[in-house]
Order: sequence, then structure tokens, then C-alpha cells
Amino acid sequence: MKRLGILRLLLLMTPIFAFLLGCNNPQAAEVITSPTAQQAYQELHRPQFHFTPKANWMNDPNGMFYYKGKYHLFYQYFPDSTVWGPMHWGHAESTDMLRWEHLPIGLYPDSIGCIFSGGAVVDHNNTSKLGTTQNPPIVATFTHHDFVGEKAKSNDFQKQSIAYSIDGGYEWIKYKGNPVIPNTEKIKDFRDPKVVWHEPSQKWILVLAAYDKVKFYASPNLTDWEFISDFGIEGDNRLWECPDLFPMRVEGTEEDKWVLIVSIQKEAPNDGTATSYFVGEFDGTTFKSEIENQKWLDWGTDNYAFVTWNNVPKADGRVLGIGWMSNWQYAQIVPTETWRSAMTLPRELRLIKTASNYALHSVPVKEFESLRGLPTALGPIEIKEEKVLEGSFSASQTELDLTVDLDKTTSNSFGIKLQNELGERVLITFDKSEGKLFVDRTKSRKDQFSDAFYKNIHAAPIDFEKEQMNIRMIIDAASIEIFIDKGELSFTSIFFPSEKFNSLSLFAKDGTCNLLNGEVFPLTNIWNEKH
Ligand code: FRU
Repeated sequence: MKRLGILRLLLLMTPIFAFLLGCNNPQAAEVITSPTAQQAYQELHRPQFHFTPKANWMNDPNGMFYYKGKYHLFYQYFPDSTVWGPMHWGHAESTDMLRWEHLPIGLYPDSIGCIFSGGAVVDHNNTSKLGTTQNPPIVATFTHHDFVGEKAKSNDFQKQSIAYSIDGGYEWIKYKGNPVIPNTEKIKDFRDPKVVWHEPSQKWILVLAAYDKVKFYASPNLTDWEFISDFGIEGDNRLWECPDLFPMRVEGTEEDKWVLIVSIQKEAPNDGTATSYFVGEFDGTTFKSEIENQKWLDWGTDNYAFVTWNNVPKADGRVLGIGWMSNWQYAQIVPTETWRSAMTLPRELRLIKTASNYALHSVPVKEFESLRGLPTALGPIEIKEEKVLEGSFSASQTELDLTVDLDKTTSNSFGIKLQNELGERVLITFDKSEGKLFVDRTKSRKDQFSDAFYKNIHAAPIDFEKEQMNIRMIIDAASIEIFIDKGELSFTSIFFPSEKFNSLSLFAKDGTCNLLNGEVFPLTNIWNEKH
């Protein structure tokens, strides 16, 4: 009894120890608040088909690579609390980016610092000499963040380091020459290194965020890095984070471009944090954007730090990525009890040439369709006022795929409503006269937990000039992801009703909405097999 009591006390105090020790505590206690098997994944707001940690705090996706049939996902993880703390890399793997198996923590804090965001690459040619060509090393690049240095106000507390795995990504060895990019300029925000192979120059290129810009480094071997250039927007003083650089084929052409993704910590289209992109040329040294302005990958409030998987087979050819489905404005106070945060659905990116520009579209990966049950067909119908949808689906775990005839739609304001018996609701409105999509979660919970979360109705521009519009909406227990016309626009939003939403309806105000066809799919949950 006495021993148990002391143990429990020690466990309870672990977050305090971790905090006091900064993050130099490699063996910080394992998960202590795991729900039991029966409770796991059944909680009110637990996403049923989005990745979440079993317990405790998660933010950005990290170190994603594909190897030997498995997609690996690491993530910013604090195993001792449901709020952010000394970061580790949590780890999970999946054959389809949907049904995940949780694995032991991949990277622990060490004497240089704790482990902030970064990427990983499969070093097929063993350029790093950390493995062999038969058994290529997987090399993770990450930021070592030293809390002690930060408290002491030394500005070089963020440095870039590497770790490698020679067993396909399960056991990780920190490189003994860390850090591989010290912070000689003493830049306070100097982090999130992501690496890509640049075929023409036969070099690895690393991009990292340096406060209000990104910096590029080149290396023949992943261990020796040389600074080559930086890229930013004149006059911008927002905080940039989690960059990603990769080549992409423009859909339907023989043209290749380079895409630079950057997450931005403020002044996103709907406040707070969001992921943006540039499209242009990268010649091995400098990146030149060819689009007029920085664009948003997702107009919603809840798709941050979106980055891509390395080493997706050429035969597959897709560019695949995932984002953190939250926003720093409220991520740490959302009302989930044993865990915090989910990832977005995994998405395929498509690079499209428009009349005057390039645009990056995103859609859920095709594997997602394997979660669909039997559809309920909906069209053609004219929606007047409100039509409650009925079928063998639940309002909080469903997908709608609707095609609207815009020419014949007379209503200026149509959309869908998700609600429960408490009158809590989320409204998705397509407003023709405003030329906008509105996502209104302001009344999605009576007991509001944050001003920032509930204060505004969120909006995105929509082109209503076309004849038809395809609207796809994927609703999980605590989120909606909206994709218009194959990802021309995507919009991700989270919500936390105090009871599950149990009614789903289509509405049209002052006129009719002409629905050409539609399908509603029930969706199965991803956790029932292994956990
Ligand atoms: C982005 C971010 C990164 C950093 C990590 C720390 O959400 O702030 O820049 O590496 O989170 O957890």
C-alpha cells in the first residue's frame, strides 16, 4: 500500500518534475491517464476516423515517411499532460493513413533539449553513411529546443539536429554530432526543419522557419549543412512555422513546379493560425514564387502545420499530407478530457494551373472511401426551407456528397445544419449574394470555453458563376471538413457540442436549392479493430 501510494504520488508529480527539469528527462513517465479499453475512443468528442493520441497532448504532424508498406506518422506529443509541455515525438503507423496503430514514443528529450517539429527522409543511397544501401537509414530532422537556455534568455535555444533509424523507423538513435545546424545567428524562432532530395543538384535541401521567413540549407549527406538562401515577403512580420518544400507535377501537363508550404501564426483568413503556400521555381539555391500572393491551403480555422509524407512510391505518384486539426488560439482549452487534438483527414494535394495562376487543391485520400457504408441517395430534389435527412447514418459520423445546379437554384442562401436537442448547432451556408461560404459554430455549445472559438462566423470566397457546384462534407464527432469542387476550396472546422449532433438537414432560404444528386454515407470507425 505504502509503495503504491508513493508511486502514485511520483506519477502525479511527473509533469511538475518534467517542467522543473525543462525537457532533459529522457525517461519521462509513460502515459498515465490512458482510458481503459472499454472507454477508449468512445468519449463524446473523440473523432471516430481521425487520428488522435490515445491520451494526452498532441500538436503538429512530424517526421512522416512511407516505407515497406507503412505510412509512418510522428507528432508533437507531451505524454504527461493534456496541455503543451516538453515535446516528444509520438509515433503511429498505418497501411492506409486511416487505420492507425499506436507505437512507442519515437524521440525523447535529451541533454540538448526537447524535440520540436521536423521531418524525416528515407536515405536510399545511404548518403549519410548511417546505414547501408541494402538497409537504408531513415533520417529525421528536428529542432532541439532548450528550455533552460530560453529561460536564461540566450537567443540560440533552438538548433537543428538529426536522429536515424536502421530498423525502418521504430528505434531511433540520436546523431552524435548534434546539432547539425547550430543557431549561430541567435535567431529566437529557428525551427521545424524539413528535408527533400533535389535531383538536379544531387543534394538534400532543408527548409526551416526563421521567424518571419524561411531559410534553405543544402547537404550531400544529411549531416553537413551549408546555408544557401532565404525567402520571405517584404514587410511581413508574422511568425512562420513548419515549412515544407517539394516538387509537383501540374495536373494534366508535363510541367513541374515547386511548392513551398508555410504555416502562419497570425492573421489567418479566419483568425489565429493557418497553413499557406507559394508555387514557383527552386533551382537548387533559391526559391522564387510565381503566384501573386501567398495563398491559403485551407480557409477554415483548424488545419495547421500541414506537411507531406516523404518517399511515397513514384508508381503511386501522389503528394500526400496531413495537418493538425486545431488552432493555437484555443487548442489547449478545448473540452476533451483525456486527450487533446486530432489530425485532419489525410489529403492528396493537386497542383492546378488556372487562367492566370497556380493553385493547390486538396482532397481526402482515396483510401478514405473504404470507410463508407451503404449510401442513401438524395436527388434530384428541390430543397425548400428545411429538409431533415433520414437514413442509416448518424449525424456525427457521416459524409455528404452533393451536386447543386447553381443555374436553377433560386435561393440566395442554402446549406446544411447540424444540430442536437439542446439547440446547439453548426450552420454551413452558401450565400450567393455575398459570394461566400459561411461556417457558423458560434452556437455549437451552450457552455462556451473560449471567446476566440465562438466569437466570429467564419467565411471563404466561393465562385457561384459556374453551372454546378460539388459540395463534399465529412463530419466526425467534433469536426467538419468541406471540399468544394474536388478541393478547389477546402475548409476545416472543429466543434464540441455538449451532446452529440443527432440531426442533419438541408435548407434553402427565400427560394429553392436545386440538388441534382446527392449521397449520404455512414462512416465506420477506425479504432474498433486493434484497440
Ligand atoms: C507549430 C509549432 C512549431 C514547433 C512546435 C512545438 O505548431 O509551434 O513551430 O516546432 O509547434 O510544439
